[in-house]
Amino acid sequence: MRRKIIAGNWKMNKNPNEALELINTLKDSINADNCDVVFAVPHINLLLAKEALNGTKIEVAAQNIHFENDGAYTGEISASMLKSVGIKYVIIGHSERREYFGETDIIVNKKVKKALEYDITPIICVGETLIQREQGITIDLVRLQTRIALDGVSNEDARRSVIAYEPIWAIGTGRVATPDQAEEVCAAIRRVVSEIYNDDIACDMRIQYGGSVNAANAKELFSMPNIDGGLVGGASLKPEFANVVNY
Ligand code: PGA
Repeated sequence: MRRKIIAGNWKMNKNPNEALELINTLKDSINADNCDVVFAVPHINLLLAKEALNGTKIEVAAQNIHFENDGAYTGEISASMLKSVGIKYVIIGHSERREYFGETDIIVNKKVKKALEYDITPIICVGETLIQREQGITIDLVRLQTRIALDGVSNEDARRSVIAYEPIWAIGTGRVATPDQAEEVCAAIRRVVSEIYNDDIACDMRIQYGGSVNAANAKELFSMPNIDGGLVGGASLKPEFANVVNY
C-alpha cells in the first residue's frame, strides 16, 4: 500500500515572519500520521521552517536545485547544501521553472539525478498545456517527460522518487482536472514507469496530482487508485491546507 504524500508548494510567497506565522497556524492542525506532509518553502525560509517543524512529522522541501555540486552558478543552490541542513525533498521541473527559466527535460533529468545522489527525494513535475490537451497529445507528452526525467535513474532511486502530474491549465486557475482526467494520466505515468523498470517499482512509486487542489476537491482526487496525494499551491498558503491534508 502506497503512503500518500501531500506537499504544499509555497512558490515565491511568505517572508520569514509570515512563514513562521503560517507554520505555527498549520503545524498543530495537520495530522501527518497517515501520510507524508511536506512544505516546499522559498530558500530563505528553509532553515527556519526546519526548526519550526522540529518535533513534528512534517518535512521541508526546496523548490529547486542546481545540477552541479558547486561552483560559479550565481543565484543557485546545490543538493549538498540542502542535504547539509537536513532537507529531504526538492521539487524539480515545475512548469513555472520550465516556462520562465527555460528548464528543459534534459535539465530536469540532471537535477533529478543530482538530488538522488544526495538522498534528496525529487518531486518531479510533468504535465501538458491546454493546447496540448486539446491536440490529444497529453499521454504521449507526459510519457516522454517521465522517460527523460528518469533516464539513467536506478531502480531503487526510481522507487523512492515522486512524480507530480500537474496539468498546466489547472495550475493557479481554479480549474481543476476531474478525478477521471487526473486518474487517467497518473495511471499512464505508472504504466510508463512499469515499462522502464518493472511492475514492482511502478506499484511502489508515488504519483501526485497538482493543479487547483483545495479542501473541497482533495478527497475525491486523492481517492482515485493511481493518485497518491497532491502538490498544492494556492491552498497551501492558507489554514485550509490542514483540511487538504486531513481530507
Ligand atoms: P495551485 O498550484 O494549487 O495553486 O494550482 C499547484 C502547483 O503549481 O504546484
